[in-house]
Amino acid sequence: MNSYSVKELLSENLLLQEVTINGWVKTFRSNRFIALNDGSTINNIQCVVDFESFDEDVLKQVNTGAAVKITGTLVESQGKGQKVEIQVTGLTIHGGADPETYPIQPKKHSLEFLREKAHLRIRTNTFAAIMRVRSALSFGVHQYFQQNGFNYFHAPIITGSDAEGAGEMFKVSTLDSKNPPLTEDGNIDYKEDFFGKETNLTVSGQLEAETYAMALGKVYTFGPTFRAENSNTSRHLAEFWMIEPEMAFFDLNDNMDLAEDFIKNVIKYVLENCQDDLQFLEKRLLDEEKTKPQAERSEMPLIEKLKFVSENSFKRVTYTEAIDILRNSKPNKKKKFKYPINEWGADLQSEHERFLVEKHFKCPVILFDYPATIKAFYMRLNEDGKTVRAMDILFPGIGEIVGGSQREERLDVLKEKMAALGIDEEELWWYLDLRKFGSAVHSGFGLGFERLVLFATGMGNIRDVIPFPRTPQNAEF
Ligand code: 4AD
Ligand code: MG
Repeated sequence: MNSYSVKELLSENLLLQEVTINGWVKTFRSNRFIALNDGSTINNIQCVVDFESFDEDVLKQVNTGAAVKITGTLVESQGKGQKVEIQVTGLTIHGGADPETYPIQPKKHSLEFLREKAHLRIRTNTFAAIMRVRSALSFGVHQYFQQNGFNYFHAPIITGSDAEGAGEMFKVSTLDSKNPPLTEDGNIDYKEDFFGKETNLTVSGQLEAETYAMALGKVYTFGPTFRAENSNTSRHLAEFWMIEPEMAFFDLNDNMDLAEDFIKNVIKYVLENCQDDLQFLEKRLLDEEKTKPQAERSEMPLIEKLKFVSENSFKRVTYTEAIDILRNSKPNKKKKFKYPINEWGADLQSEHERFLVEKHFKCPVILFDYPATIKAFYMRLNEDGKTVRAMDILFPGIGEIVGGSQREERLDVLKEKMAALGIDEEELWWYLDLRKFGSAVHSGFGLGFERLVLFATGMGNIRDVIPFPRTPQNAEF
Protein backbone atom coordinates (compact mmCIF):
# COMPACT_ATOMS: atom_id res chain seq x y z
CA MET A 1 0.00 0.00 0.00
CA ASN A 2 1.33 3.40 -0.99
CA SER A 3 2.26 5.96 1.61
CA TYR A 4 1.58 9.56 0.60
CA SER A 5 1.94 13.02 2.05
CA VAL A 6 -1.14 15.16 2.70
CA LYS A 7 0.03 17.47 -0.07
CA GLU A 8 0.12 14.59 -2.55
CA LEU A 9 -3.27 13.31 -1.49
CA LEU A 10 -4.82 16.74 -1.89
CA SER A 11 -3.23 17.53 -5.21
CA GLU A 12 -2.90 14.27 -7.10
CA ASN A 13 -5.72 12.34 -8.51
CA LEU A 14 -5.66 9.24 -6.35
CA LEU A 15 -9.40 8.94 -6.05
CA LEU A 16 -10.70 5.51 -5.01
CA GLN A 17 -7.21 4.25 -4.27
CA GLU A 18 -6.15 2.59 -1.04
CA VAL A 19 -3.68 4.92 0.66
CA THR A 20 -1.59 5.10 3.83
CA ILE A 21 -0.70 8.30 5.59
CA ASN A 22 1.27 9.17 8.72
CA GLY A 23 0.78 12.43 10.54
CA TRP A 24 -0.37 14.29 13.63
CA VAL A 25 -3.97 14.80 14.66
CA LYS A 26 -5.07 18.42 14.55
CA THR A 27 -8.60 17.78 15.75
CA PHE A 28 -10.99 14.85 16.22
CA ARG A 29 -14.63 15.92 16.01
CA SER A 30 -17.74 13.95 16.96
CA ASN A 31 -15.73 10.72 17.27
CA ARG A 32 -15.86 10.74 13.46
CA PHE A 33 -13.70 13.38 11.69
CA ILE A 34 -9.93 13.44 12.12
CA ALA A 35 -8.18 16.47 10.66
CA LEU A 36 -4.70 15.14 9.94
CA ASN A 37 -1.57 17.06 9.06
CA ASP A 38 1.95 15.87 8.31
CA GLY A 39 3.72 19.19 7.72
CA SER A 40 3.77 18.89 3.94
CA THR A 41 1.16 21.64 3.52
CA ILE A 42 -0.92 24.05 5.57
CA ASN A 43 -4.04 22.07 4.64
CA ASN A 44 -5.26 19.06 6.62
CA ILE A 45 -6.77 15.97 5.17
CA GLN A 46 -10.09 14.89 6.63
CA CYS A 47 -10.19 11.24 7.64
CA VAL A 48 -13.66 9.84 8.32
CA VAL A 49 -13.86 7.15 11.00
CA ASP A 50 -16.77 4.82 11.50
CA PHE A 51 -16.36 4.62 15.28
CA GLU A 52 -18.22 1.36 15.60
CA SER A 53 -15.51 -0.41 13.61
CA PHE A 54 -12.71 0.62 15.97
CA ASP A 55 -11.65 -0.23 19.45
CA GLU A 56 -12.68 2.37 22.01
CA ASP A 57 -9.20 2.27 23.54
CA VAL A 58 -7.65 3.24 20.22
CA LEU A 59 -10.16 6.01 19.55
CA LYS A 60 -9.52 7.45 23.02
CA GLN A 61 -5.93 8.10 22.00
CA VAL A 62 -6.87 10.09 18.90
CA ASN A 63 -6.24 13.43 20.55
CA THR A 64 -4.83 16.68 19.25
CA GLY A 65 -1.09 16.17 18.83
CA ALA A 66 -1.12 12.35 18.65
CA ALA A 67 0.96 10.74 15.89
CA VAL A 68 -1.07 8.23 13.91
CA LYS A 69 -0.97 6.01 10.87
CA ILE A 70 -4.13 5.87 8.82
CA THR A 71 -5.06 3.62 5.94
CA GLY A 72 -8.18 3.91 3.88
CA THR A 73 -9.78 4.83 0.60
CA LEU A 74 -9.52 8.29 -0.86
CA VAL A 75 -12.99 9.42 -1.87
CA GLU A 76 -14.68 12.63 -2.95
CA SER A 77 -15.72 14.60 0.10
CA GLN A 78 -19.34 15.35 0.86
CA GLY A 79 -18.34 18.09 3.29
CA LYS A 80 -17.63 21.72 2.51
CA GLY A 81 -14.07 23.04 2.23
CA GLN A 82 -12.30 19.94 0.96
CA LYS A 83 -12.41 18.00 -2.28
CA VAL A 84 -11.29 14.63 -0.97
CA GLU A 85 -11.25 12.71 2.28
CA ILE A 86 -10.13 9.31 3.51
CA GLN A 87 -12.59 6.65 4.58
CA VAL A 88 -10.57 5.07 7.31
CA THR A 89 -10.14 1.30 7.37
CA GLY A 90 -7.02 1.11 9.55
CA LEU A 91 -5.87 3.28 12.45
CA THR A 92 -2.64 2.83 14.42
CA ILE A 93 -1.42 5.13 17.17
CA HIS A 94 2.32 5.82 16.93
CA GLY A 95 2.28 7.99 20.04
CA GLY A 96 -0.51 9.67 21.96
CA ALA A 97 -0.59 13.23 23.37
CA ASP A 98 -2.29 13.65 26.73
CA PRO A 99 -4.79 16.51 26.38
CA GLU A 100 -4.25 17.42 30.05
CA THR A 101 -0.60 18.23 29.46
CA TYR A 102 -0.09 18.80 25.72
CA PRO A 103 0.21 22.60 25.47
CA ILE A 104 -0.73 23.09 21.81
CA GLN A 105 -4.49 22.79 21.88
CA PRO A 106 -6.75 23.72 18.95
CA LYS A 107 -7.30 27.33 20.00
CA LYS A 108 -5.50 30.59 19.46
CA HIS A 109 -2.26 30.73 21.43
CA SER A 110 -0.37 34.01 21.72
CA LEU A 111 3.02 34.27 20.03
CA GLU A 112 4.56 35.09 23.43
CA PHE A 113 3.15 31.89 24.91
CA LEU A 114 4.45 29.89 21.97
CA ARG A 115 7.95 31.42 22.27
CA GLU A 116 8.19 29.66 25.63
CA LYS A 117 7.42 26.39 23.83
CA ALA A 118 9.89 26.73 20.98
CA HIS A 119 10.16 22.93 20.63
CA LEU A 120 6.40 22.50 20.08
CA ARG A 121 5.31 25.75 18.44
CA ILE A 122 6.20 24.31 15.03
CA ARG A 123 3.10 22.11 15.48
CA THR A 124 0.91 25.19 14.99
CA ASN A 125 -0.27 26.28 11.55
CA THR A 126 1.36 29.68 11.88
CA PHE A 127 4.85 28.37 12.67
CA ALA A 128 4.65 25.55 10.16
CA ALA A 129 3.73 28.09 7.46
CA ILE A 130 6.54 30.46 8.49
CA MET A 131 9.15 27.72 8.51
CA ARG A 132 8.09 26.33 5.14
CA VAL A 133 8.39 29.84 3.71
CA ARG A 134 11.80 30.16 5.40
CA SER A 135 12.92 26.90 3.81
CA ALA A 136 11.65 27.94 0.37
CA LEU A 137 13.39 31.30 0.70
CA SER A 138 16.70 29.56 1.45
CA PHE A 139 16.30 27.43 -1.63
CA GLY A 140 15.41 30.55 -3.65
CA VAL A 141 18.59 32.20 -2.40
CA HIS A 142 20.80 29.31 -3.49
CA GLN A 143 18.98 28.97 -6.79
CA TYR A 144 19.46 32.65 -7.61
CA PHE A 145 23.18 32.64 -6.98
CA GLN A 146 23.83 29.24 -8.53
CA GLN A 147 22.01 30.31 -11.69
CA ASN A 148 23.99 33.53 -11.85
CA GLY A 149 27.50 32.10 -11.77
CA PHE A 150 28.26 32.41 -8.04
CA ASN A 151 30.15 29.84 -5.98
CA TYR A 152 28.87 29.03 -2.50
CA PHE A 153 31.65 29.86 -0.05
CA HIS A 154 31.68 28.55 3.52
CA ALA A 155 33.08 31.25 5.76
CA PRO A 156 34.71 30.17 9.02
CA ILE A 157 32.58 30.45 12.14
CA ILE A 158 35.53 30.76 14.52
CA THR A 159 37.74 33.63 13.50
CA GLY A 160 40.37 36.01 14.82
CA SER A 161 38.96 39.06 13.04
CA ASP A 162 36.21 41.53 13.83
CA ALA A 163 34.87 42.24 10.34
CA GLU A 164 32.64 45.10 11.37
CA GLY A 165 35.06 46.64 13.86
CA ALA A 166 32.13 47.13 16.19
CA GLY A 167 33.43 44.93 19.01
CA GLU A 168 30.20 42.98 19.34
CA MET A 169 31.80 39.55 19.44
CA PHE A 170 31.24 36.36 21.37
CA LYS A 171 34.65 35.18 22.53
CA VAL A 172 35.59 31.58 21.85
CA SER A 173 37.90 29.98 24.33
CA THR A 174 38.81 26.59 25.74
CA LEU A 175 40.37 28.27 28.77
CA ASP A 176 38.86 27.92 32.23
CA SER A 177 36.83 31.14 32.38
CA LYS A 178 36.95 31.30 36.19
CA ASN A 179 40.68 30.84 36.34
CA PRO A 180 42.30 31.72 33.02
CA PRO A 181 46.09 31.83 32.58
CA LEU A 182 47.33 35.41 32.65
CA THR A 183 50.17 37.20 30.90
CA GLU A 184 52.69 39.25 32.91
CA ASP A 185 50.57 42.37 32.47
CA GLY A 186 47.44 40.65 33.76
CA ASN A 187 45.58 40.00 30.48
CA ILE A 188 44.20 36.57 29.54
CA ASP A 189 47.02 34.61 27.92
CA TYR A 190 45.39 33.32 24.74
CA LYS A 191 48.65 31.61 23.73
CA GLU A 192 47.61 28.93 26.21
CA ASP A 193 44.32 28.48 24.39
CA PHE A 194 43.55 25.77 21.86
CA PHE A 195 43.66 28.36 19.09
CA GLY A 196 46.70 30.12 20.55
CA LYS A 197 45.07 33.45 19.83
CA GLU A 198 42.08 35.47 20.88
CA THR A 199 39.20 34.19 18.75
CA ASN A 200 35.50 34.90 18.41
CA LEU A 201 32.39 33.74 16.61
CA THR A 202 32.12 35.45 13.26
CA VAL A 203 30.09 38.66 13.00
CA SER A 204 30.29 38.52 9.19
CA GLY A 205 31.98 36.31 6.61
CA GLN A 206 32.77 39.30 4.44
CA LEU A 207 36.52 39.66 4.85
CA GLU A 208 37.08 35.98 4.14
CA ALA A 209 34.58 36.10 1.25
CA GLU A 210 36.66 38.91 -0.27
CA THR A 211 39.66 36.56 -0.46
CA TYR A 212 37.60 34.07 -2.47
CA ALA A 213 35.98 36.69 -4.71
CA MET A 214 39.50 37.78 -5.67
CA ALA A 215 40.04 34.36 -7.24
CA LEU A 216 36.63 32.88 -8.03
CA GLY A 217 35.09 36.16 -9.18
CA LYS A 218 31.63 35.83 -7.68
CA VAL A 219 30.95 34.06 -4.38
CA TYR A 220 28.28 34.11 -1.68
CA THR A 221 28.08 32.96 1.90
CA PHE A 222 24.90 31.84 3.60
CA GLY A 223 25.47 30.89 7.19
CA PRO A 224 25.06 31.79 10.84
CA THR A 225 26.63 34.96 12.20
CA PHE A 226 26.77 36.19 15.78
CA ARG A 227 26.46 39.59 17.43
CA ALA A 228 26.85 40.10 21.14
CA GLU A 229 24.80 43.27 21.05
CA ASN A 230 22.43 43.56 23.93
CA SER A 231 19.58 44.96 21.89
CA ASN A 232 16.14 43.72 22.77
CA THR A 233 14.33 44.75 19.65
CA SER A 234 11.99 42.95 17.32
CA ARG A 235 14.68 43.19 14.59
CA HIS A 236 17.81 41.88 16.36
CA LEU A 237 19.06 38.43 17.25
CA ALA A 238 22.34 37.37 18.81
CA GLU A 239 22.53 34.54 16.25
CA PHE A 240 21.19 35.22 12.78
CA TRP A 241 21.76 33.93 9.28
CA MET A 242 23.38 36.19 6.76
CA ILE A 243 23.72 35.99 3.00
CA GLU A 244 26.84 37.76 1.79
CA PRO A 245 27.64 37.90 -1.91
CA GLU A 246 31.04 39.31 -2.85
CA MET A 247 31.98 40.16 -6.44
CA ALA A 248 35.28 41.09 -8.10
CA PHE A 249 35.09 43.90 -10.66
CA PHE A 250 31.72 45.15 -9.35
CA ASP A 251 31.42 48.80 -8.38
CA LEU A 252 28.77 50.23 -6.05
CA ASN A 253 26.22 50.60 -8.86
CA ASP A 254 26.68 46.99 -9.96
CA ASN A 255 26.32 46.01 -6.31
CA MET A 256 23.02 47.87 -5.91
CA ASP A 257 21.71 46.40 -9.17
CA LEU A 258 22.55 42.90 -7.99
CA ALA A 259 21.04 43.37 -4.52
CA GLU A 260 17.78 44.68 -5.96
CA ASP A 261 17.52 41.95 -8.58
CA PHE A 262 18.35 39.29 -6.00
CA ILE A 263 15.72 40.38 -3.48
CA LYS A 264 13.04 40.68 -6.16
CA ASN A 265 13.83 37.21 -7.45
CA VAL A 266 13.70 35.42 -4.10
CA ILE A 267 10.40 37.12 -3.31
CA LYS A 268 9.07 35.97 -6.69
CA TYR A 269 10.28 32.50 -5.82
CA VAL A 270 8.14 32.34 -2.67
CA LEU A 271 5.18 33.90 -4.46
CA GLU A 272 5.39 31.09 -6.99
CA ASN A 273 6.09 28.27 -4.56
CA CYS A 274 4.35 29.12 -1.27
CA GLN A 275 0.89 30.32 -2.31
CA ASP A 276 -1.05 28.30 0.29
CA ASP A 277 1.19 29.33 3.16
CA LEU A 278 1.22 32.97 2.08
CA GLN A 279 -2.56 33.00 1.85
CA PHE A 280 -2.78 31.55 5.34
CA LEU A 281 -0.29 34.11 6.70
CA GLU A 282 -2.09 36.94 4.91
CA LYS A 283 -5.38 35.96 6.48
CA ARG A 284 -3.75 35.65 9.89
CA LEU A 285 -2.37 39.15 9.49
CA LEU A 286 -5.70 40.60 8.38
CA ASP A 287 -7.37 39.10 11.47
CA GLU A 288 -4.63 40.58 13.67
CA GLU A 289 -4.93 43.97 11.98
CA LYS A 290 -8.64 44.15 12.76
CA THR A 291 -7.71 44.48 16.42
CA LYS A 292 -5.45 47.48 15.73
CA PRO A 293 -6.41 51.15 15.34
CA GLN A 294 -6.92 52.16 11.68
CA ALA A 295 -3.76 54.27 11.55
CA GLU A 296 -1.54 51.33 12.45
CA ARG A 297 -2.97 48.94 9.93
CA SER A 298 -0.92 47.95 6.93
CA GLU A 299 -2.02 49.57 3.70
CA MET A 300 -1.54 46.46 1.58
CA PRO A 301 -2.37 42.82 2.17
CA LEU A 302 0.70 40.58 2.37
CA ILE A 303 0.65 39.02 -1.09
CA GLU A 304 -0.04 42.33 -2.82
CA LYS A 305 2.87 43.86 -0.89
CA LEU A 306 5.23 41.07 -1.98
CA LYS A 307 4.13 41.48 -5.59
CA PHE A 308 4.58 45.25 -5.37
CA VAL A 309 8.13 44.93 -4.08
CA SER A 310 9.09 42.26 -6.58
CA GLU A 311 7.79 44.27 -9.56
CA ASN A 312 8.72 47.90 -8.83
CA SER A 313 12.04 49.72 -8.77
CA PHE A 314 13.64 50.52 -5.45
CA LYS A 315 14.27 54.25 -4.97
CA ARG A 316 17.98 55.18 -4.86
CA VAL A 317 18.99 58.27 -2.88
CA THR A 318 22.25 59.49 -1.41
CA TYR A 319 22.61 59.88 2.33
CA THR A 320 22.94 63.64 1.77
CA GLU A 321 19.63 63.82 -0.13
CA ALA A 322 17.96 61.75 2.57
CA ILE A 323 19.18 64.10 5.30
CA ASP A 324 17.70 67.06 3.39
CA ILE A 325 14.37 65.27 3.11
CA LEU A 326 14.37 64.36 6.81
CA ARG A 327 15.25 67.90 7.90
CA ASN A 328 12.34 69.30 5.91
CA SER A 329 9.77 66.69 6.96
CA LYS A 330 7.05 66.66 9.55
CA PRO A 331 6.77 62.98 10.34
CA ASN A 332 3.79 62.92 12.69
CA LYS A 333 1.26 65.03 14.58
CA LYS A 334 4.00 66.40 16.82
CA LYS A 335 5.86 67.24 13.59
CA LYS A 336 9.10 66.01 15.11
CA PHE A 337 11.27 62.95 15.15
CA LYS A 338 12.20 61.56 18.54
CA TYR A 339 15.83 62.03 17.47
CA PRO A 340 15.78 65.15 15.27
CA ILE A 341 18.35 65.20 12.48
CA ASN A 342 20.33 68.35 13.05
CA GLU A 343 23.49 67.86 11.16
CA TRP A 344 25.05 66.07 8.25
CA GLY A 345 27.01 63.08 9.50
CA ALA A 346 24.47 61.80 12.00
CA ASP A 347 23.58 58.11 11.81
CA LEU A 348 19.98 57.40 10.86
CA GLN A 349 17.72 55.86 13.48
CA SER A 350 15.08 53.35 12.53
CA GLU A 351 12.34 56.02 12.80
CA HIS A 352 14.13 57.95 10.01
CA GLU A 353 14.61 54.89 7.85
CA ARG A 354 11.00 53.89 8.21
CA PHE A 355 9.79 57.42 7.52
CA LEU A 356 11.70 57.48 4.23
CA VAL A 357 10.36 54.09 3.15
CA GLU A 358 6.83 54.07 4.52
CA LYS A 359 5.79 57.73 4.39
CA HIS A 360 8.00 59.57 1.94
CA PHE A 361 8.87 57.23 -0.95
CA LYS A 362 6.39 54.44 -0.19
CA CYS A 363 8.70 51.80 -1.66
CA PRO A 364 12.01 50.12 -0.74
CA VAL A 365 14.86 52.64 -0.66
CA ILE A 366 18.57 52.22 -1.30
CA LEU A 367 20.58 54.85 0.54
CA PHE A 368 24.18 55.25 -0.61
CA ASP A 369 27.30 57.38 -0.19
CA TYR A 370 27.23 57.58 3.60
CA PRO A 371 29.61 59.65 5.75
CA ALA A 372 32.85 57.69 6.26
CA THR A 373 32.71 58.36 9.99
CA ILE A 374 29.62 56.20 10.58
CA LYS A 375 30.64 53.24 8.42
CA ALA A 376 33.15 50.38 8.62
CA PHE A 377 36.86 50.71 7.81
CA TYR A 378 36.83 48.64 4.61
CA MET A 379 34.50 50.85 2.55
CA ARG A 380 35.80 52.64 -0.54
CA LEU A 381 36.46 56.33 0.11
CA ASN A 382 34.85 58.69 -2.41
CA GLU A 383 36.72 61.51 -4.14
CA ASP A 384 35.13 64.06 -1.78
CA GLY A 385 37.23 62.51 1.01
CA LYS A 386 34.28 62.38 3.42
CA THR A 387 31.78 59.87 2.06
CA VAL A 388 32.19 56.17 1.36
CA ARG A 389 30.63 53.93 -1.28
CA ALA A 390 28.26 52.27 1.17
CA MET A 391 24.67 51.30 0.57
CA ASP A 392 21.87 50.20 2.86
CA ILE A 393 18.56 48.86 1.61
CA LEU A 394 15.57 49.90 3.70
CA PHE A 395 12.32 47.97 3.62
CA PRO A 396 8.78 48.83 4.70
CA GLY A 397 7.98 47.51 8.17
CA ILE A 398 11.59 46.37 8.63
CA GLY A 399 14.06 49.22 8.20
CA GLU A 400 17.56 48.07 7.18
CA ILE A 401 17.51 44.71 5.44
CA VAL A 402 20.83 44.96 3.55
CA GLY A 403 24.14 46.63 4.31
CA GLY A 404 26.87 46.64 1.69
CA SER A 405 29.62 48.58 -0.02
CA GLN A 406 32.30 48.82 -2.63
CA ARG A 407 35.48 47.82 -0.82
CA GLU A 408 38.61 49.96 -0.49
CA GLU A 409 40.96 48.30 -2.98
CA ARG A 410 43.86 50.79 -2.62
CA LEU A 411 46.51 49.57 -0.18
CA ASP A 412 47.67 53.02 0.94
CA VAL A 413 44.16 54.38 1.56
CA LEU A 414 43.10 51.24 3.41
CA LYS A 415 46.18 51.39 5.64
CA GLU A 416 45.48 55.03 6.43
CA LYS A 417 41.90 54.27 7.39
CA MET A 418 42.94 51.37 9.59
CA ALA A 419 45.57 53.49 11.30
CA ALA A 420 43.04 56.25 11.95
CA LEU A 421 40.72 53.72 13.62
CA GLY A 422 43.49 52.01 15.55
CA ILE A 423 43.17 48.70 13.69
CA ASP A 424 46.40 46.77 13.85
CA GLU A 425 47.87 45.96 10.41
CA GLU A 426 49.29 42.73 11.78
CA GLU A 427 45.79 41.55 12.67
CA LEU A 428 44.67 41.83 9.06
CA TRP A 429 47.92 41.13 7.17
CA TRP A 430 46.15 38.61 4.95
CA TYR A 431 43.40 41.13 4.14
CA LEU A 432 46.04 43.68 3.16
CA ASP A 433 47.71 41.06 0.92
CA LEU A 434 44.61 41.18 -1.30
CA ARG A 435 45.50 44.81 -2.02
CA LYS A 436 49.13 43.91 -2.76
CA PHE A 437 48.54 41.06 -5.19
CA GLY A 438 46.11 41.52 -8.05
CA SER A 439 43.90 44.07 -6.33
CA ALA A 440 40.79 45.25 -8.15
CA VAL A 441 37.53 47.06 -7.65
CA HIS A 442 35.16 44.74 -5.79
CA SER A 443 31.92 44.94 -3.84
CA GLY A 444 29.45 42.97 -1.81
CA PHE A 445 26.63 43.15 0.65
CA GLY A 446 25.03 41.32 3.55
CA LEU A 447 21.34 40.54 3.78
CA GLY A 448 19.93 39.56 7.16
CA PHE A 449 18.01 36.41 6.30
CA GLU A 450 15.55 36.65 9.21
CA ARG A 451 14.64 40.19 8.21
CA LEU A 452 13.79 38.86 4.76
CA VAL A 453 11.69 36.09 6.33
CA LEU A 454 9.95 38.73 8.47
CA PHE A 455 9.07 40.66 5.36
CA ALA A 456 7.93 37.63 3.37
CA THR A 457 5.70 36.28 6.15
CA GLY A 458 4.40 39.61 7.46
CA MET A 459 5.42 38.63 11.00
CA GLY A 460 6.26 41.41 13.43
CA ASN A 461 8.95 39.90 15.65
CA ILE A 462 12.23 38.38 14.52
CA ARG A 463 11.99 35.77 17.30
CA ASP A 464 9.13 34.19 15.41
CA VAL A 465 10.93 33.56 12.13
CA ILE A 466 13.93 31.53 13.34
CA PRO A 467 13.44 28.10 14.94
CA PHE A 468 15.29 28.70 18.20
CA PRO A 469 15.87 32.43 18.67
CA ARG A 470 19.00 33.50 20.50
CA THR A 471 18.35 36.76 22.28
CA PRO A 472 19.68 38.05 25.58
CA GLN A 473 16.81 36.24 27.37
CA ASN A 474 16.56 33.08 25.39
CA ALA A 475 19.08 30.33 24.89
CA GLU A 476 17.30 27.50 26.64
CA PHE A 477 16.88 25.11 23.75
O1 4AD B 1 25.01 45.98 8.14
P1 4AD B 1 25.76 44.76 8.61
O2 4AD B 1 26.37 44.81 9.94
O3 4AD B 1 26.84 44.48 7.46
C1 4AD B 1 27.80 43.53 7.48
O4 4AD B 1 27.95 42.69 8.33
C2 4AD B 1 28.66 43.53 6.23
N1 4AD B 1 29.92 42.86 6.54
C3 4AD B 1 27.90 42.84 5.12
C4 4AD B 1 28.68 42.75 3.83
O5 4AD B 1 28.91 43.78 3.22
N2 4AD B 1 29.08 41.58 3.42
O6 4AD B 1 24.79 43.51 8.55
C5 4AD B 1 24.16 43.14 7.33
C6 4AD B 1 22.70 42.84 7.56
C7 4AD B 1 21.88 44.00 8.10
O7 4AD B 1 21.47 44.84 7.06
C8 4AD B 1 20.72 43.28 8.75
O8 4AD B 1 19.76 42.91 7.78
C9 4AD B 1 21.38 42.03 9.28
O9 4AD B 1 22.58 41.83 8.55
N3 4AD B 1 21.69 42.13 10.71
C10 4AD B 1 20.98 41.51 11.69
N4 4AD B 1 19.90 40.72 11.64
C11 4AD B 1 19.42 40.23 12.80
N5 4AD B 1 19.98 40.48 14.00
C12 4AD B 1 21.07 41.27 14.12
N6 4AD B 1 21.62 41.49 15.31
C13 4AD B 1 21.62 41.82 12.91
N7 4AD B 1 22.68 42.63 12.64
C14 4AD B 1 22.70 42.79 11.30
MG1 MG C 1 24.37 47.85 8.70
